[in-house]
Amino acid sequence: MADNPTATTETTGLNEAVTSALDNAPTTHAHLLDWVRETAELTQPDSIHWVDGSEEEWKRLTDELVDAGTFVRLDEQKFPNSFAAFSDPDDVARVEERTFICTKTEKGAGPTNNWEDPEVMKAALRKRFRGAMRGRTMYVIPFVMGHLDAARPSYGVEITDSAYVVCSMRIMATIGTPVLEKMTAQNGFFVECLHSLGAPLAPGEEDVPWPCNPAKYIVHFPEDRSIWSFGSGYGGNALLGKKCYALRIASAIAHDEGWLAEHMLILKVTNPQGESRFISAAFPSACGKTNFAMLEPTIEGWKAEMVGDDIAWIRFGKDGQARVTNPEAGLFGVAPGTGWPTNPNAMRAIARGNTIFTNVALTDDGGVWWEGMTEEVPEHLTDWKGREWTPESGRPAAHPNSRFCTPIKQVDILAPEYDDPEGVPLSAIVFGGRRKTTVPLVSQSFGWEHGVFQGATLSSETTAAAKGAVGVVRRDPMAMLPFIGYNANDYLAHWVEIGERVGEENMPKVFYVNWFRRTSTGGFAWPGFGENSRVVKWIAERLDGTAGGQDTPIGTVPTPEDLDLTGLELAPEDLEAALKVDVEEWKAELPSIDEWFHRLGHVPESILEQRAGLEDRLHQA
Ligand code: GDP
Ligand code: PGA
Ligand code: MN
Repeated sequence: MADNPTATTETTGLNEAVTSALDNAPTTHAHLLDWVRETAELTQPDSIHWVDGSEEEWKRLTDELVDAGTFVRLDEQKFPNSFAAFSDPDDVARVEERTFICTKTEKGAGPTNNWEDPEVMKAALRKRFRGAMRGRTMYVIPFVMGHLDAARPSYGVEITDSAYVVCSMRIMATIGTPVLEKMTAQNGFFVECLHSLGAPLAPGEEDVPWPCNPAKYIVHFPEDRSIWSFGSGYGGNALLGKKCYALRIASAIAHDEGWLAEHMLILKVTNPQGESRFISAAFPSACGKTNFAMLEPTIEGWKAEMVGDDIAWIRFGKDGQARVTNPEAGLFGVAPGTGWPTNPNAMRAIARGNTIFTNVALTDDGGVWWEGMTEEVPEHLTDWKGREWTPESGRPAAHPNSRFCTPIKQVDILAPEYDDPEGVPLSAIVFGGRRKTTVPLVSQSFGWEHGVFQGATLSSETTAAAKGAVGVVRRDPMAMLPFIGYNANDYLAHWVEIGERVGEENMPKVFYVNWFRRTSTGGFAWPGFGENSRVVKWIAERLDGTAGGQDTPIGTVPTPEDLDLTGLELAPEDLEAALKVDVEEWKAELPSIDEWFHRLGHVPESILEQRAGLEDRLHQA
C-alpha cells in the first residue's frame, strides 16, 4: 500500500502490455484514446483491459475475484452465478466529508458542498493517482446512463483498477462494446470517470481481498463534467455512473439545460379500471426508495410496477408534459430489512441470481443472510467481518449498509415502459423522509411553489448509507443534499423557474410522506411496505379529483375515512398518530427551517414566502 503517493518514482515509460493495448484499442475515438493514454502514463498499470461487457468477460473476472478472495461464490442452487464480497471495515458507505464539488468559484459549489479550487484539487489528485495502479490492471469501461437509443445518449467511460467495480458496473449500467461502437461512430461526448483504489502493488507483493486507501477523495468537476474518485471501492464512491454521474454531474448539466436529475424512484400504478399513472418519489438514502418502487399492493384491484428505484431524469416536452426516465440498469439495494414479508419482489429478483452481495452474512450452506431477511434467525452464520456468529453474539451479522446489486430486468414487476427511451409521463412527485415525529403519513401540497417549499425543507434522520452519526435529523432538500452538483440555492431556484416556465397546470402534483412516525410507545405508527399502497391509492385518487382530504396548515391530509383501510388491522390510536398534524410540533419546526435557510443564504423569494405562509396558517390554526 502506498500511503505516500509521492514516494513512487515518476516515469512516463509504459510497459509492452500497456503499449500494445493502446495500439490495439477497439476504438478510434481520439479524445478517449488520449485520455486513456494519459491516465496510463499517470497511474502506471501493469496492463489495460478494454471492457466489452460480454458473458465470457464476466465469467473470467468473477473467477479471478474468487481466486483473489474478494468474492465468495454462493451456492449455485440457491443463488446462481452470484457472489458475496466483504469490504474493508473502513470502506462501507459513501463518504460525504470526502466528497468535493470543484467549481471555478467557491460560490459555484454553494454552502452545502465541500469545495476546492479545480486546479489545486487536480494537482493534489495527480499526486495521489501517480503510480496508483502499479501491479494492477486498468479497466476501461464504456457505459451509457439511460438508453443507448436516447436522442442524445448520456455516455460515460470509467477507468478503474477494480474488477469488483467492473462487475458491479455491468449490473448497474449498459456497458461494453455496443456502447463503445456507437460512441465512437458519433464521436460522442462522454463524462470522464476516473477511479482508483489507491492501492498499488509492489512487485511480488500479495494483494488483500478488499484493497483501498485510508485517504479518500470523491471529486467532481461539474464545469468540465468529469469525476475523479480515489481510495474507496464501495458503491456510490466507486460505481461512478450512479451518484457521481447520474446525480451530481447530471444535476449540473440539467441546471444548464433546463431539466431535473433527481434522487427519485419511479413507480407505475394502475387502478382497478386499468388506468395508469406514473409517480416518482424522493427519499434520502436508506429511507425506502427501493422498497416503495417494488411495492406489492395489499388492496384489491390495484397494481404497482417499477420503472426505477433510485434516480430519475425528468425532462419537459414542448407540450409542457413532464417525462421521466430511469438512467440505471440495476438495483443497488439496502439488504437489511429486505425480506419475503416486506419486499417479496426484491427477494424474487435476487433469487434469480447474477447478483453481487456486499457485507452481508454467509449461511453455512452457501447462502446469504441479513437482519430482517427471515423471521427465523439462523443458529450459525459467518458475519460480514468473517467472524463466527450466533444469535447470542449481540451484534448484527450483516453491516447495516450491506447491499445487493442485481439486474433490474430480473424484477418481475418491471413496467414494460422501463425501456422507453423517451420516458414515461409523470403525474406526481412525492417527497419523504424518516421522522419519528411531526410529519404525517401523507399530505398534498397546495401547489407547485408550496411543493417546492416542502421539498426544500425535507428533513430526515441520518442513516448508515453515509459514514457518520445515525439518527440525527437534518434538512435534505429533495433528498439531494449529498448529490447536488452545484450551489443549493441555485438548485432551488431552478425548481421554482421550471414551474414558472412549464406552468403550474402542467407540473406534477406534489405530496409529502413519512412511513417512519412513531407512536407514544415507540413502535411504527404505520405498518409500511405493501400497506403503503393505501397511500398510493389516495394519491392517485387526488390526481383524479375523487379523494377527499382536510386542509391543514401544512397541506391537505386525508382523514381516516379518506383512506382505503379495508382489511387493515390497525389500532385507531396508531392511525391517529400516523395522520396527526400537531400545530405545536410544526411551530417548533420553524426555527430549524429558519436556521437551514440561513445556512443556505440565498433561498429564492417564493420559497421564503411559502415559509411565511406556513407560519401564518399555523398561528391561525
Ligand atoms: P433506499 O436506500 O431509499 O432505496 O431505501 P430502502 O428501500 O432500501 O429501505 C431502507 C430501509 O428502510 C430498509 O431497512 C427497509 O426495510 C426500510 N423501509 C423501507 N420502507 C419502509 C416502510 O414503509 N416502513 C418501515 N418501517 N421501514 C421501511
Ligand atoms: P441509496 O444509495 O441508499 O440511496 O440506494 C446508494 C449509495 O449510498 O451509494
Ligand atoms: Mn435504494
